[in-house]
Amino acid sequence: MKNIRLLFLCVSFLVFLSGISTAKTTIEDGLSVNKLTLYVQDNAEVIAPDIYGHFAEHLGRCVYGGFWVGEDSDIDNVRGIRRDVVTALKKLDIPVLRWPGGCFADDYHWKDGIGPRDQRPKTVNTHWGMVTDTNAFGTHEFLDLCEMLECEAYIAGNMGSGTPQEMRDWVEYMTFAGDSELANLRRKNGRKKPWKIKYFGVGNENWGCGGSMTPEYYSELYKHYQTYVRNYPGSKIIKVACGPNGNNTAWAESIMKNIGRSLHGYGQHYYVQASQSWYGHATQFDETEWFALMKKSLNMNDIILRNKEIMDRYDKNKRVELYIDEWGTWWDAEKGTNPRFLYQQNTLRDAVSAGIFLNTFNNHCDRVKMCNIAQISNVLQAMILTDGAKMVTTPTYHVFEMFKVHQGADLLTNDLTCNSYKHDKKTLPSLNVSASKADDGSINITICNLDPTKPADFKCDIKGFSPKTVSARVLTAEAMNMHNTFDAPNAIKPEVFRGVSVKKDMILATLPAKSVTVINVK
Ligand code: AHR
Repeated sequence: MKNIRLLFLCVSFLVFLSGISTAKTTIEDGLSVNKLTLYVQDNAEVIAPDIYGHFAEHLGRCVYGGFWVGEDSDIDNVRGIRRDVVTALKKLDIPVLRWPGGCFADDYHWKDGIGPRDQRPKTVNTHWGMVTDTNAFGTHEFLDLCEMLECEAYIAGNMGSGTPQEMRDWVEYMTFAGDSELANLRRKNGRKKPWKIKYFGVGNENWGCGGSMTPEYYSELYKHYQTYVRNYPGSKIIKVACGPNGNNTAWAESIMKNIGRSLHGYGQHYYVQASQSWYGHATQFDETEWFALMKKSLNMNDIILRNKEIMDRYDKNKRVELYIDEWGTWWDAEKGTNPRFLYQQNTLRDAVSAGIFLNTFNNHCDRVKMCNIAQISNVLQAMILTDGAKMVTTPTYHVFEMFKVHQGADLLTNDLTCNSYKHDKKTLPSLNVSASKADDGSINITICNLDPTKPADFKCDIKGFSPKTVSARVLTAEAMNMHNTFDAPNAIKPEVFRGVSVKKDMILATLPAKSVTVINVK
C-alpha cells in the first residue's frame, strides 16, 4: 500500500513538474480499446460553477412567452414568470443568468423597465426585428427570476447608446443599501433590500452591434465607463469587458495590452454552424454537416488556448478571468418563424456539441471561470422551447442536467488515447472527455462519442483512486437528428446506462455511437 501511495505521489509530482496541460488527447488508429488515464491531484483546479451559466436576451420569444407571461396570463405563473419553466430550469442548478442582451443590451435603457407596468413606455427592439417591447419584463422581474432560480445575476450594461451616468445610476438603483433618491425609487417600486449583482458587463460585442468600435477606442471607453460601476458598501461587482469573437486574437491582444492591468475578466463569444458560409438546418442534415459541427465544437479548445496564450503574456498570475459569455449552435430559423427571432430546434447533434463545449470549459477551468450558453428559451441552442402553454426540454437541456455534477468539483487531469472518427478523408478524435472529483469523494467522467456510427470500447484507469462501484447515464438515439417536440416531449432523454463495469481497478464500457455519457465512480 505504501509503495502504491509513493508511486502515485511520484506520478502526480511528475505530472505537476512537466506542466502537462489538464487534458491531452492522442489519436491512435486501430485501437481495440480507447484508453483514458485520470490523475487525482491535491492541487487540482476547481471547476467554477459559473461555467454552467445561461443567457436570456430580449430577442424573439426568449423573454416574452419563453418565461415571462405576465400575472394575468392563463398560463400558470408566479408573479408573471412561468411556473413550468422555472420548475424545469431548477433541475439544472443554474449558477448565473445573463440579461438583457446581447446586442439588445447596448440599446436598452433600464429606466424604461421599472415602475408600474401599465405606465412603462413601449420601445422598439431595433436589433431583433423592430418589434415593440412593452418593457413588462425589467430589472425587478429579472432579479425576481434569479431569486427563483437561486442563481447569480449577470447584467449587461449599455455602453453603445447609453451614458456613463445611466450605467452608474442603474448600479446604484440595484445595489445601494442606504438613503438616496435612486435607492428610494427602488423601494417605492417594491424592493426594500438591495440586490447582489455578481457580474456587470461594460457593453456587449462593441466591435459590432455594440458600437462598431476598434479595440483601442473600446479600451478607452471601458476605462471611462467602468469607473462609474461602483461598489456601494457591501457590494462587490465583477466587471466584464467585451472580448473578441471567434478567432479575433487582435481584439484580445489589444484589450490585454491596454486595459489588462485593470480588468476582472473579458467575455469571448463563439457560435458554431455546419459550414463557414451558411448556418444550416437544425434538424435536416447529413453526416457531413454532423462532422462539420463536431469539428467546430472541438475548435473551442484552440480558441481558448489562443486566448490563454495572450492572457498569460500580460497576466502570468491568472488574475484576469476568461469568460465565454455567449456560445452555442446557430442554425437557420425554423420555417414559418420570424428570421430575426432565431428560433431553432435542437437535436442529439446539438447535445453532443454542448458536451464537447462543457468538457472543454472544464479542462480549461484554470482561466475559464464563467460561460453562458445562448439562450435559455426559444432562441438559438435553447434549454426550453415553448408554444403557448406547451413546454418541452431539449437534448441540450439534458446535457446540462447530466454535467451539473462538475459544478464546483476538482478537475482531474486526463490523458486520452482514442481512435479517430473519419469522414470524407477528414479526421477528428472520436472521443472527448473531462472528469472531476466531487465533494463526496466520487469521480464523475463525462464522455462524448462523436462518431455517429461506431460504438467505442473504452477503459479508464484512475491513478490514485480505487474504484469500487460504478453507475452511468447516457443520452443517445437511433437517429442523429432525434429531437423532442410538443407531441413527443421525451423522444430523447438520458437513460440509465448498464454497459459499464469495474474490473481489476479499471472502468470498462462500450459507449454507444453519437452519445453523451456521464459515469459516476465511487
Ligand atoms: O445571442 C444572439 C446574439 O449573438 C447576441 O445578441 C449577440 O451578442 C451575438 O451576436
